[in-house]
Amino acid sequence: MMETTEKQTVREQILNAFAFRHATKEFDPAKKISEADFSFILETGRLSPSSFGFEPWKFVVVQSQDVRQKLLPVAWGAQKQLPTASHFVILLSRTKEGLTADSAHIQHMMRDIQQLPEENAKGKGNTYHHFLADDFKLLDNDRAVFEWGARQTYIALGNMMTAAAQIGVDSCPMEGFDKDAVEKILREEGVLQGGFGVACMVAFGYRVREPRAKTRQPIEAVTSWV
Ligand SMILES: Cc1cc2nc3c(=O)[nH]c(=O)nc-3n(C[C@H](O)[C@H](O)[C@H](O)COP(=O)(O)O)c2cc1C
Repeated sequence: MMETTEKQTVREQILNAFAFRHATKEFDPAKKISEADFSFILETGRLSPSSFGFEPWKFVVVQSQDVRQKLLPVAWGAQKQLPTASHFVILLSRTKEGLTADSAHIQHMMRDIQQLPEENAKGKGNTYHHFLADDFKLLDNDRAVFEWGARQTYIALGNMMTAAAQIGVDSCPMEGFDKDAVEKILREEGVLQGGFGVACMVAFGYRVREPRAKTRQPIEAVTSWV
């Protein structure tokens, strides 16, 4: 069957966005992302998939230059991004405290957000506990539970960066920071409560210069078919 030209165009547009996106080190500090564009980017994070639909994340938007300055000495991978990004987001992920089946968050998600009838919530809670305890064997290691939540948070990260690229907004994902030190600062600023840890960061804005050409392995090197 012939492909529609419409589909070809969409495919081309999406691949163009992937080619456009690069880890932007330095942004034009004079160029701000519009409110509508930034809301759109955040919305793609909010709509991202998560295991069991439990949304283990929170997005902290750091617009205070004062707070960004405090983060600078403990974020080696964000030296130019912190002072120049139009919008700077720290992605938090839940710790074990908010991820066990009987936790307030999981119960809230099942009952208030997913609106499961009592019986279904109980069943899903049991399946979820079995998954954490036996299938993925996460419950005997606090850090493993946090990292499992963080893995899902990275899906929101990827979606936000791709969505941004599709509307011509640049971004940079970042793990170059001292996790404990960043958490201490966010706690002092009142934006990191118990039950959360820092997963990663992402800066958004507009590039000051064109990037170097992309380097990637060929598709055969990263794909196996069976
Ligand atoms: C999880 C993750 C962490 C990263 N941490 C940093 C960072 O701390 N600072 C930085 O400048 N770039 C960081 N990068 C960007 C990568 O270096 C970059 O994505 C990679 O070299 C590929 O280049 P491209 O994104 O421009 O195609 C990170 C990327 C990912 C996915």
